[in-house]
Amino acid sequence: MDQSGALDTLLQEDRVFRPLPGLVMEANVNPQELAAAYRQAAQDPLGFWESAALELEWFRRWDKVLDESAPPHFSWFPGARCNIAHNALDRHTKTGNKHRLALIWEGEPGDIRKFTYFELYRAVNKLAGALRSLGVAKGDRVVVYMPPLPETVISMLACAKIGAVHCVVFPGFTGKALKERLRDARAKCLITADGFYRNGRVVPLKASLDEVLAGDDLDAVDICVVVRRANLDVEMHAARDVWYDDIVRHEKPEAPTEVMSANDPLFLLYTSGAAGKPKGVVHSHGGYMVGVHHTLNWVFDIKPTDIFWCTADPGWITGHSYAVYAPLLAGTTTLLYEGHPLYPQADRMWHITAKHGVSALYTTPTTIRMLMRYGNQFPRQHDLTSLRMLGSVGEPINPEAWVWFYQTIGRGECPVMDTWWQTETGQIMIAPMPVSLIKPGSVNKPLPGIEADIVDRSGAPVPPGKGGLLVIRRPWPGMMHSVWNDEEAYLACWNRIPGCYLAGDVARRDEDGYFWMQGRADEVINIAGHRLGTAELESALVSHRAVAEAAVIGVPDKIKGELAKAFVILREGFEESDELARELREHMRRELGPVAELKGVKFRADLPKTKSGKIMRRLLKAEELGTEPGDVSMLDDE
Ligand code: PRX
Repeated sequence: MDQSGALDTLLQEDRVFRPLPGLVMEANVNPQELAAAYRQAAQDPLGFWESAALELEWFRRWDKVLDESAPPHFSWFPGARCNIAHNALDRHTKTGNKHRLALIWEGEPGDIRKFTYFELYRAVNKLAGALRSLGVAKGDRVVVYMPPLPETVISMLACAKIGAVHCVVFPGFTGKALKERLRDARAKCLITADGFYRNGRVVPLKASLDEVLAGDDLDAVDICVVVRRANLDVEMHAARDVWYDDIVRHEKPEAPTEVMSANDPLFLLYTSGAAGKPKGVVHSHGGYMVGVHHTLNWVFDIKPTDIFWCTADPGWITGHSYAVYAPLLAGTTTLLYEGHPLYPQADRMWHITAKHGVSALYTTPTTIRMLMRYGNQFPRQHDLTSLRMLGSVGEPINPEAWVWFYQTIGRGECPVMDTWWQTETGQIMIAPMPVSLIKPGSVNKPLPGIEADIVDRSGAPVPPGKGGLLVIRRPWPGMMHSVWNDEEAYLACWNRIPGCYLAGDVARRDEDGYFWMQGRADEVINIAGHRLGTAELESALVSHRAVAEAAVIGVPDKIKGELAKAFVILREGFEESDELARELREHMRRELGPVAELKGVKFRADLPKTKSGKIMRRLLKAEELGTEPGDVSMLDDE
């Protein structure tokens, strides 16, 4: 595999990193085992994933590993009965893991809470019992709209335990975005907090929700559970709102775990797709737990003594898979931080790492680039020797940021795992392993059991060095089960290139088989690793009274990878001005939340469109970046 002559030559250049011998010797999967895994997974992929499934506990085994009879719907482990909460919690209370730390949480003001597996188990059982008493049953949707708090993790696990479907909404989404999700999910219950700490301020959460819930256009949310975090004086709606503390107080610390079918939904999580509205990606108990458990063990080489810190908010898929579920499935300790990485100063992440002895740190290129800007003096003030693995996800990492992370944070000893995956894939798909040779800027190779390829628009593989569309040729266990209420959006991922899952990313593969990600192929902008559809952004813009038409493109940004730039045609009677541009930026934040940050607003008299009236964002982008516009034959030049 990797260790071929071509790579040996490349090793003479600085840009290929060989793992240190100690790391290889202690790796969960050594180079021979990895080579054997690639061979086995290629010959018998189902056998490969079946072995991974056997590492977890099942109430009943599967009738077969994969049902492929109705593509593109695939059913992993049909006939099996399980519950991810049983594997993430219940089973650990019967082993030596019982009194090991499951969760370390640090609040932005510096308050700390720790839970052993036994303590987390009891807290989850109490909430599970309370939710059941409130009438939340298997299959009901529970929206969790919270900052990273222990109760966020407890809520997710309590839902899983009783078979309810959680839908975590990132607290950075507000107003319209939140309402849309509540409505689409038809949430019966909402779990939130009074407020939280962010960048030295208290952000009120419950109060902002009241407005959303008040409208009579929302036929959802019978129960609203409020966690007291910031001691805010909030209005409690008598028929609907209850305090978290009150409902769990008298519950027993034992509650039965619902026996689920492997393909019963575990959660839905909204993400932006090519279509106009966010799609609720559904993951189910069985395949998802196998996928995330296996990949954490393999990619991050997880040991029981690890303190794993994935900095993603539980409101994103990274938080679901690698801050909550996978570390708990592995019986290791996960760390959650409530606040801003620059508060009270730019060393907060290094302070937390040193204080808690973090051994694996998984974060985003945007965070790395932001911290890199502050130089080396902050990391140098802290003892970072507990670190042994680093990781990056969400957007392409530039080699400079990779090398800084590796050298300054990882002492030149901790490999940086650049992991490619998506909300839809549920689990890491393309990434190095601890024993891999790493080229900074490349996401390495598909993991064993993952058949990725790069093809042209007709589905034909492209030669090395040439860019194309990234596809996955075979189902994998962590794959999305469906899209909530939107079969078309599910099919759209599978039908464009026959027989393949189309990721929506452009990539190239080099002579050594390494994949290099080059950004999105569809109408999605990746701002600091957060996906936002151009359609979503544009529809929020045109909801402003001054805007007649709008187009949004992604433009490169040194820190955040990409930012959104808006081109706006004003309605009659409105004049362009800096004031109006500011107002539009404010409007976007109100409508969608701070994630929808606009880099700039340009007023225009017209927008380039095809003859059929579709906006040609590609041309706006070329104009903005001063690059070649490419084929303009479709342009309606009238
Ligand atoms: O464009 C790719 C980018 O993020 C997209 C997935 O976004 P989301 O579903 O929000 O999940 C993010 C975290 C898993 C992908 O289609 N992306 C993700 N990881 C990488 C990446 N781009 C380059 N390199 C990565 N490592």
